[in-house]
Amino acid sequence: MVEELFEKAIGRVIDSGYAVCDYFIEDKLVKGLRHNLKTLFNNDDLKLAGIGKWDHFQKDRSIRNDRIHWISDQSENTFEKEFLRLVDQFVNYLNSTCFTGIKTYEFHYALYQKGAFYKKHIDQFTNDIGRKYTMIFYLNEDWKGGDGGELVLYFANSEVKILPVAGRLVFFESHKIEHEVKPAKRERMSVTGWLKNTETKLKL
Ligand code: OGA
Ligand code: NI
Repeated sequence: MVEELFEKAIGRVIDSGYAVCDYFIEDKLVKGLRHNLKTLFNNDDLKLAGIGKWDHFQKDRSIRNDRIHWISDQSENTFEKEFLRLVDQFVNYLNSTCFTGIKTYEFHYALYQKGAFYKKHIDQFTNDIGRKYTMIFYLNEDWKGGDGGELVLYFANSEVKILPVAGRLVFFESHKIEHEVKPAKRERMSVTGWLKNTETKLKL
């Protein structure tokens, strides 16, 4: 039951401030999304990601150097449609159980080539409070501890390291947790996005 997964993710955020949920997306969907991402890369359809917003927008390679591609709401791709349907269900569940008032969302593929990173940051721009929740879905088969590429969540007196293993979801409130992506010894793939309480869709 998909509701049990949703319940687990939401419960963990309420209890600990963040959730790590394995087997959140099925293997078939993980494979399909990974195939899409590889195709985008091979066709040179990934762009270097930016930071900041509007006039603050910059592409500072010393902060992040992953490559991204936004998933369109109108996508006709089977796997993207399945993925967005799952997000829709999750948002409906979240709104009906927690009165979160999420109105929209935006998701992108991300590919970190070997050695790529994203330095410590918060997923909310100073002049955009629309991003309420961050969701990161990992697509990497057989990821080992020694491969690096951990997501590090920083808390006042501790930190948590999370490996980007296939099927795993990481979920937290966007403005609350500083985090970082450590360089990896291999290509690191994910779909990352934000649930928002504004209609504005800003895609960088
Ligand atoms: C981001 C981010 C984390 C990850 O895209 O803002 O922090 O583990 N991603 O990919
Ligand atoms: Ni982030």
